[in-house]
Amino acid sequence: MAPDLSSLLEAEDFRTAARRYLPRVLFEYMDRGSERETALRLGRAALDRLRIVPSVLTGSNDCDLSCNVLGKTLPTPLIVAPTAIAGMIRPGGEARIASAAARLGVPVCLATQSIVPIETVARAAPGNVWFQLYVWQDRKRTLDLLERVKAAGVETLVVTVDTSVQPLRHYNRRNGFSMGFRATPRSVLDIASHPRWAWNALLRPLVQGRGIPDFPHYPEYLRPNVLRPRQDPSVRLARDVTWQDIEHLRVVWKGKLVLKGILSPEDVTRARRIGIDGVVVSTHGARNLDSAPAVADVLPSLTDEAGNMTVIADSGIRQGSDVFKLLALGADAVMVGRLPLYGLAAGGAEGVERILSMLLDELRVTMGLSGQTALSELELNSLLNVRGQE
Ligand SMILES: Cc1cc2nc3c(=O)[nH]c(=O)nc-3n(C[C@H](O)[C@H](O)[C@H](O)COP(=O)(O)O)c2cc1C
Repeated sequence: MAPDLSSLLEAEDFRTAARRYLPRVLFEYMDRGSERETALRLGRAALDRLRIVPSVLTGSNDCDLSCNVLGKTLPTPLIVAPTAIAGMIRPGGEARIASAAARLGVPVCLATQSIVPIETVARAAPGNVWFQLYVWQDRKRTLDLLERVKAAGVETLVVTVDTSVQPLRHYNRRNGFSMGFRATPRSVLDIASHPRWAWNALLRPLVQGRGIPDFPHYPEYLRPNVLRPRQDPSVRLARDVTWQDIEHLRVVWKGKLVLKGILSPEDVTRARRIGIDGVVVSTHGARNLDSAPAVADVLPSLTDEAGNMTVIADSGIRQGSDVFKLLALGADAVMVGRLPLYGLAAGGAEGVERILSMLLDELRVTMGLSGQTALSELELNSLLNVRGQE
């Protein structure tokens, strides 16, 4: 039975609904971290131990959530993070996320490894779509992809720089998953016991002649699909990406250029010096380096180095007060990855709109209760770090 969306009141409700709908293989791929999941736990603890000291009698009955990102004013500080294979959660998933987010004025960053192509997503949310790039081993093919992205009308390119090797996610191997599904007795049983998902995501596209969902940003003749995910070496993620690649991208990409996955002040300085427009301070949702520091712990030292660059933060946002805290620590805006995916699984585009609206409502409540009226005025000294009490 599909959940009554009005009964889902907080992120955990959406997560529970997502867990029910999805086979374990996909739920764990979406939900979990890497290795021993230490970064996942500590990232969460770092947000929780920050407490907000309210100012009283400020007359704050109306709050302004607008913010400045990459030279534009956005109505809210949210951006949907790039998440690979969202289109396997619900068919057309990336386009549903984009159209739902657009209704709230929230930009969406489409992943290189999406199931829905950039052209379709850009049509679903005109002017509201960014693109996330993984540099492939074959740089020429990477540049060809960028031509396509540009032709679709994208202005903002986000290059992910924190995934130089495959992270260790043991549950994926156990579940028979590696950017696609491997048939093992366990995975077949898992999928068979989620018939609603199996019909919507796998069988219906087949019956309707749409074929097996694939990765449309890959060159057509090399395109992996979700049942045959093996990638041609030329389009595997490059392990040898350096600052020279980024300098070259800065020359060829005329729009806004953002680096995602930065955690050190030195890298922020270097990015600024070569004319990068923004950075995403991120642990990739605690899915890559399990020993990475918590974003909340490093953010202030990075924003100090950023100068005029836009600083976006992500990883671990589950409630409005998390957004408040990352903005008070100096971020201009935040990205959310898993939350829109929980919403998508729970209720398609409507689920996405609801979970993003819920997050914004929670942010408004946090601002009201802490006596703040404008995000642009949040300050570090409104936060108290109760380190050691968790
Ligand atoms: C299922 C899933 C797939 C992801 N795929 C990508 C990706 O292809 N490229 C990328 O740069 N980040 C990817 N990320 C990381 C997100 O962009 C983002 O940094 C992270 O999800 C933020 O943390 P949160 O999920 O706690 O909000 C992915 C995250 C998830 C949950």
